[in-house]
Amino acid sequence: MKEKQKDNVSIEDLAIFCKKKGFVYPSGEIYGGLAGFWDFGPLGVELSNNLKKEWWKFNVYQREDLVGIDGSIITSPKVWEASGHVENFVDVSVVCKKCGYKSKIDKHEIGITSCEKCGGEYEVKGEFNPMFITEVGPIKGDSTKAYLRPETAQLIFANFKYVQDNARMKLPFGIAQIGKAFRNEVSPREFLFRTREFEQMEIEYFIEPKQKCPYLKEIGTKEIFILDKKMQDSNEGSKKIKIIDALKKKIIKKDWHAYWISKYFEWFDLMGADLNKFRIRQHLSKEKSHYSEDTWDIEYNFPMGYRELMGFADRGDFDLKQHQEYSKKNMELSLDDGKKILPHVVCEPSLGVGRALLVFLLDAYHYDEKRKNVVLKLSPKLSPIKTAIFPIVKKPEFEIIAQKIFDDLKKEWNVVYDKSGSIGRRYARNDEIGTPYCITVDGDSLKNKDVTIRDRDTTKQIRVKVSELKNVLRGLINSEIEFEKAGKLLN
Ligand code: GAP
Repeated sequence: MKEKQKDNVSIEDLAIFCKKKGFVYPSGEIYGGLAGFWDFGPLGVELSNNLKKEWWKFNVYQREDLVGIDGSIITSPKVWEASGHVENFVDVSVVCKKCGYKSKIDKHEIGITSCEKCGGEYEVKGEFNPMFITEVGPIKGDSTKAYLRPETAQLIFANFKYVQDNARMKLPFGIAQIGKAFRNEVSPREFLFRTREFEQMEIEYFIEPKQKCPYLKEIGTKEIFILDKKMQDSNEGSKKIKIIDALKKKIIKKDWHAYWISKYFEWFDLMGADLNKFRIRQHLSKEKSHYSEDTWDIEYNFPMGYRELMGFADRGDFDLKQHQEYSKKNMELSLDDGKKILPHVVCEPSLGVGRALLVFLLDAYHYDEKRKNVVLKLSPKLSPIKTAIFPIVKKPEFEIIAQKIFDDLKKEWNVVYDKSGSIGRRYARNDEIGTPYCITVDGDSLKNKDVTIRDRDTTKQIRVKVSELKNVLRGLINSEIEFEKAGKLLN
């Protein structure tokens, strides 16, 4: 396929690009694939791992009030009875009478919603619970019905008391988890947007009931697009406003909601996303999940329009109360004054890895008219390959130095050594997959023990001593130094 020669790629074009370059393949495609399942290729696994590592760093390592867990995908089915998923996690399968488009809607939307493709009337095909069912135990008749988890969150609630005790956490505190979740979606579609197997990065943040957020000073001053219930009811459209002002004006009611939404804007910004394509939208009462008191979503303007990127639900004490009742285990915590309380989850930031990957890939994709190739402008923190090392020509004197640099850098990063093709071709290959820096060993390197580093986005080059290379690269990848000041600027 010829690369799409524009920046605004469709989701289908992005899927083709991702397959061609080795980011994401349709799962089991040699047998025709299976809808809603995707495999990550050599670049995709690196990108996804970098994304999860950066999320974990920001939310767990850089905070004293958060610790992580890694729960099991299959757990006691009682967990899902207590959480309400067995009874209340229900979708309605529909088919458009006019165009045949298959979709799922929520129960409350029956008779109200029309086909998102052509506006036709939906015919209800039945209700179903999207949890995948499996059997635990190999002997028929002696096995237990169990579920593949539809969200990671419940393992946090079920382990809440152990984690609080082991990590000696005091309210307010959070527990984070990254892991697979499974939903038997009626109509998986739009590449990684709606899949049947996906990964979530979730935080359950526990507070004393009515405890105020002490971190409001950290909320930045950037304006964001906001669409609350009232604006939706009156068809006003979204407003651009600072998060802190939205809180003061009670558009966002809870301080913790404002705080966590601002933290995610900060993180997406740090990771290089285009915040102009973001907005936050409050759920209408009829949309809220069975456990939620108030929910806000961050939505992103995908090629198919504004869609949910992630959610921030106020789950109150719903989950701990349910697990306390079903398990008969006390989930309360003792405060310093001896009072016992059931903590509340005032905010549950929940982000799908696949949807986050779509955002970063869509924002990074640029077709460069001058270079006549795609330049994938990913943040260096996320880039699958941090640097490519080239000897300018295939001659031992250049190759020995380049190979030595490669051997040193690969101890710290995923880097490649590339000696085939012209320098221009090698640059283009790396631009297309988002490698932020290319290092070339050239004629001057032999005399001066230095190399050139070329910046992917500007094509500018600097010369840097080999002895300083690792430190310079570390500074560049972590956005601690500016490229043009990191060495002697050449062009
Ligand atoms: N624990 C709360 C929870 O699971 P959710 O809104 O159902 O809430 C949270 O899911 C996030 O997980 C979504 O905002 C989205 O990023 C991701 N997600 C949910 N279903 C998905 C699917 N079928 N495919 C890809 N990502 C999905």
